[in-house]
Amino acid sequence: MIDPAPARLVVLVSGSGSNLQALLDAATDPAYGAKVVAVGADREGIAGLERAAAAGIPTFVDSVKAYPTRDDWDAALAEHVAAYSPDLVISAGFLKLVGKHFLDAFGDRYINTHNALLPAFPGIHGPRDALAYGVKVAGATLFFVDAGVDTGPIIAQVAVPVLDGDTEDSLTERIKVAERAQLVEYVGRLVREGWTIEDRKVRIP
Ligand code: GRF
Repeated sequence: MIDPAPARLVVLVSGSGSNLQALLDAATDPAYGAKVVAVGADREGIAGLERAAAAGIPTFVDSVKAYPTRDDWDAALAEHVAAYSPDLVISAGFLKLVGKHFLDAFGDRYINTHNALLPAFPGIHGPRDALAYGVKVAGATLFFVDAGVDTGPIIAQVAVPVLDGDTEDSLTERIKVAERAQLVEYVGRLVREGWTIEDRKVRIP
């Protein structure tokens, strides 16, 4: 039997891109079932873009301030992602909320990894907020993006302990180790096995 073509992933980044790197590494195995076909960013000069270039992956940058309105930016981002015909679009540390154009095009296949156990601590300071609250368990959540802030249907969650003496950096790094493994595992499962969403419950057969 001829193997099916690998699923096409477009990954969006704003920073160091260590989650992107985990996907790039996983995709070197043909059995993984997916390949990164493009990497998009909302800013120049970030390590995530360098990682993509080093892997020979095409990149594009859509900065909000390059467009007259946020709506124009959202439409342009959707168009640039669509040019790569992705099966799944992955926000891996992408620090922008997308809008209607993007969700109309990709709302059924746009996922995000967040460094907190949702619905606790949404937003961009998950580990800092978790530490300040004094929780004993933190972690990461992989979910389908909807129009809210970190509110979409949850695909998977992974927990890590909060240790005495943790700083924001130490907790962030512990979460990221677990987060990367979760992302790689579940992206692979989603593309190989498919999924359903019913009443917020994501099921991978
Ligand atoms: C991840 O922990 C993600 O949850 C958060 O930003 C981090 C991105 O890390 N939103 P990296 O750029 O993949 O290294």
